[in-house]
Amino acid sequence: MDFKVEVAKLLAAAADVSFEDALATVEIPANKTMGDFAYPCFRLAKVFRKAPPMIAQEIVEKLDKPEFIEQIQVVGAYVNFYINKGVYAQAVLKDVLKDKDNYGKSDIGNGKTIVIDYSSPNIAKPFHVGHLRSTVIGNAIYKIHEELGYNCVGVNHLGDWGTQFGKLIVAYRNWGSKEAVENNGIQELMRIYVKFHDEAENNPSLDDEARLWFVKMQEGDQEALTLWKWFYEISIKEFERVYEMLGVKFDVYTGESFYNDKMAPVVEELKNKNILKESEGALIVDLEDKNMPPCLIIRKDGGTLYATRDITAALYRKKTYNFEKCIYLTALDQNLHFAQWFEVIHKMGYDWYKDLIHVPFGLVSLDSGKLSTRHGNVVLMEDLLSQAIGETKKIIEEKNPGLENKEEVSKQVGIGAVIFNDLYNGRIKDVVFSWERMLNFDGETGPYVQYTHARACSILKRAGEISFENIEYSKLSDDASLDICKLLEAYPDKIRDAANKLEPSVVTRHLVAIAQAFNKFYHDNPILNSEEEVRQARLAIVVAVKTVMKQGLNLLGIDAPEQM
Ligand code: ARG
Repeated sequence: MDFKVEVAKLLAAAADVSFEDALATVEIPANKTMGDFAYPCFRLAKVFRKAPPMIAQEIVEKLDKPEFIEQIQVVGAYVNFYINKGVYAQAVLKDVLKDKDNYGKSDIGNGKTIVIDYSSPNIAKPFHVGHLRSTVIGNAIYKIHEELGYNCVGVNHLGDWGTQFGKLIVAYRNWGSKEAVENNGIQELMRIYVKFHDEAENNPSLDDEARLWFVKMQEGDQEALTLWKWFYEISIKEFERVYEMLGVKFDVYTGESFYNDKMAPVVEELKNKNILKESEGALIVDLEDKNMPPCLIIRKDGGTLYATRDITAALYRKKTYNFEKCIYLTALDQNLHFAQWFEVIHKMGYDWYKDLIHVPFGLVSLDSGKLSTRHGNVVLMEDLLSQAIGETKKIIEEKNPGLENKEEVSKQVGIGAVIFNDLYNGRIKDVVFSWERMLNFDGETGPYVQYTHARACSILKRAGEISFENIEYSKLSDDASLDICKLLEAYPDKIRDAANKLEPSVVTRHLVAIAQAFNKFYHDNPILNSEEEVRQARLAIVVAVKTVMKQGLNLLGIDAPEQM
């Protein structure tokens, strides 16, 4: 039952307005003492040529008070409705108890495919905190869509192709050793890559050599590709360790190299469609009519570019997955890049260019000094996550030294804290890492929500066997119970809202609100020691909250331990 809709129906009959009009006018008062729904009569003053308070009074006289409304009051120009808490609680809790883990799931996405391009780090470069955001936000967007019935394809568009690999090969041949790379992995690859740049400053022929090696890669030269493949595997091994820690998976790893043999026909198509222009030896798509700099497609030396591969990948994905939307997650400094090549797809005559969606996010800054910087000034994801786990373990050691699976829980809570922190604010905002704030068990944090979930689990454990048949919902007549029911009722809408806005923070914030309401409920109401009917009804709230919190955390990619 949708209570707002029911109230609007009543009003439509009593106020002589259309149902749509009534529904659009009904408000949910910010101040709870003004009721659960309020109907302002200002606009009707003109129609009926009467003072609004008088109209409100007349509406109330005509209203038939249904069972789900406890009280109707006129306050000034408003008609305020107070719902019957028990009836409302019954409507909401019955749904949650019946649907369990499926509460909030929907089929609105059935038959539709969403491609999500996220994480996508660069081979031979460290997986740094900047990639964390893409990974975490993308993973949440994936799960949120999945909950709504969409078929999701998670793509890791690895940066594994381009002239930089020519440089790396030259660097390796000049200053590298098999042993050092095997022992130090990406660190060593970074070291020789940096050395290449230092050396090339005084010796530009190194750059020419690097370009040649990349050309060899493009042409399928064995020696070049063997080295490249080796760098690739070393990098992937490190990335996968991070994904494993974060609990993130991909459906496909189709990085930039995957498109090496697929670009030529696309360039051909651009030529045939008369979109390509020559400019200083390079091939470009002019975007002056869109007030953007040109999109570079082929370099003067014949090399393809990041944009060339993105255009090719989009065509490939459209053909392969026939997506409804293709979503790209990167920091906002790539805004122009995406705007440019989306426009190229438009100029090619594909109207699905409007289904390509760049979802930008803000930067990560560090509450400096507190993060381990043993690798110079790049903060590596793996170190950061290990540190999160370590800090959490210290807290658990202090708060609950007897906890059984401390290692496992420290991992779930530490990593959860990092993810939650990233998803708490609107994604466009910058994220600041502050261990103190992130790991505060009383703040608006991951540990706080997880702790509240664990508290619910512990109450249920102590309660023992409970039957949820024939609950006396009228026993839930307090404000805290009502607040929780409202938040639970809103939860399915929040998932849809998060998907529409591509904004996981909608879910994150709602979970904090539920946790806060639950802690107030727990504080105000004795549960286990109450009289039988009250006990059972309150336990129904505990189960419902536990169910939704666990499910909500899962949507964000966060575990919900039962004890912590
Ligand atoms: N590898 C890129 C980077 O680290 C991100 C790739 C994003 N995806 C894409 N299709 N361009 O900046």
